Amino acid sequence: MLQKKWWHEKTAYQIYPKSFCDSNGDGIGDLKGIISKLDYLKELGVDIIWLSPIYCSPLADQGYDISDYYNIDPRFGTMDDMDELLKEAKARNMYIIMDLVVNHCSDEHQWFQKACGDPEGEFGKYFYIETVKDGKLPNNWRSYFGGSVWEKLPGHEDKYYMHVFHKKQPDLNWENPKLRHEVYKMINWWLEKGVAGFRIDAIMNIKKPNIFTTYPADREDGLASIENMIRDAVGIDEFLHEMKMETFEKYNAFTVGEVFTDRPDALKAFIGNDGHFSTMFDFSETCAGKNEDGWYKCQPVVCGDEYKACAFGTQKRLGDLGFISNIIENHDEPRGVSHYIPAEDLNDTSKKMLAAVNIMLRGLPFIYQGQELGMTNVDFTSIDQIDDCSTQDEYKVALKAGLSADEAFHAVLPFSRDNARTPFHWNDSANAGFTSAAPWLMVNPNYVQINAKDQVGRQNSVFSWYKELISLRKNPEYKETIVYGEVIPYKAEQKNLMAYYRKGTDKTLLVAANYQNKAQDLKLPGTFKQVLMNNLDTLDLDGSTLHMPGYQVVILEL
Ligand code: NOJ
Repeated sequence: MLQKKWWHEKTAYQIYPKSFCDSNGDGIGDLKGIISKLDYLKELGVDIIWLSPIYCSPLADQGYDISDYYNIDPRFGTMDDMDELLKEAKARNMYIIMDLVVNHCSDEHQWFQKACGDPEGEFGKYFYIETVKDGKLPNNWRSYFGGSVWEKLPGHEDKYYMHVFHKKQPDLNWENPKLRHEVYKMINWWLEKGVAGFRIDAIMNIKKPNIFTTYPADREDGLASIENMIRDAVGIDEFLHEMKMETFEKYNAFTVGEVFTDRPDALKAFIGNDGHFSTMFDFSETCAGKNEDGWYKCQPVVCGDEYKACAFGTQKRLGDLGFISNIIENHDEPRGVSHYIPAEDLNDTSKKMLAAVNIMLRGLPFIYQGQELGMTNVDFTSIDQIDDCSTQDEYKVALKAGLSADEAFHAVLPFSRDNARTPFHWNDSANAGFTSAAPWLMVNPNYVQINAKDQVGRQNSVFSWYKELISLRKNPEYKETIVYGEVIPYKAEQKNLMAYYRKGTDKTLLVAANYQNKAQDLKLPGTFKQVLMNNLDTLDLDGSTLHMPGYQVVILEL
């Protein structure tokens, strides 16, 4: 039986600080900007806020390369601003969680600087540094952002360090107890300060198999996917258990893991009652249609039955074992509405359908900034408009595979992380009201139609729909059912129909969505008490048959 936790009934929201709200006119979002928008988030119904990294960083990977874990990057503000944010959030009964990025730090972190100065010394042991003879690297692993995981250690001709992400993100050596102790000290420092917990970055990478393992090459570059490393690493549980006991457990902190793994026991080990984390993201939909050869071969849209199969698959595997976190997008993914709805069907009705089927699942909803407005992918016109290092790499992969520049650009564009990273649309004034200066990344031109000013307070807006979904989840009448009720698929075999019961102790709801643009009929299981939500103005009921126009979704109380 799942043990109940304070955060189960909450709703979480991810802020990508660089693109949320710029208070000082430098084109970059900041903490003061976030503070100024807390009331907006409160109105939406948000309880937990996850801040993508705001620590000091050269921003080679947008803050996921940390050069000082104990300070705020001046571009985002000061520690006083952070304290103010914690205070203002608390005053509104909101919780702040930080991003915990400890698989790697920045090459500008003093640990790495010292390691470069003395690779054999104390700090050299914080990293994976190897002496290379005759140019033969220790292994042939390909980093997530392309190229070998090995890079020459600055100042040393014969020494290399390992980085599974960007070369400015050297991997920390978790085998070293001293390093682990430093990490735990830092975590506890933030928990003492009043953060409620952490989103835990790239955590599966902290454990490596024998680093001298060479795998069969899977591309012409002679390298092998880093997934081999994740698959073969044994013993991560000891690290994660130790981290939990030394930190989170002592503070009753909330943690959500970025866990990518095929381990059959993963759900129990990571989010069971004694799991390493409170919860973890469900990436089953985001992983659907992926291809090992590169983004250019991935499937740009995953919808209807495919989406349903992913969501139901997770719920079935999970059962009552733990509490998953449900997303349709984040800062590493394209916009959910662009990825899970075909472009020609994209409108407020289909966006609301996607929101309802996702938020009504069992688990903790995480909304990514702008999702509540139905923000979409961006029609970038040139690869030069893209800042993201991963997109730049995948573009090169596509070119190498023989695509023309234009083909390569259009093949990778649907997956670009910058789709979700463009500035937030506050209003229809210049730069979407995000900044008074030139924004660091272009604003999606559709901000004139899609923006908060237009949607907050407009009854049938996407924002109002999200607000209503969140408030239904909090409604004392339905809370128990929506938070803890079982998910039971209904007519799972009916094509492009995504319907499921939420069965609580004293109530049963039915969420039914016509996940396609064509109308279809749904035979209801019997009579129902009332319609709790409907994304259309009409309900076309004929006896117990519901005639559903394309993308209609209803939530019925049975
Ligand atoms: C996952 C983060 O979400 C992503 O943005 C980042 O590039 C990598 N981890 C490396 O930290």
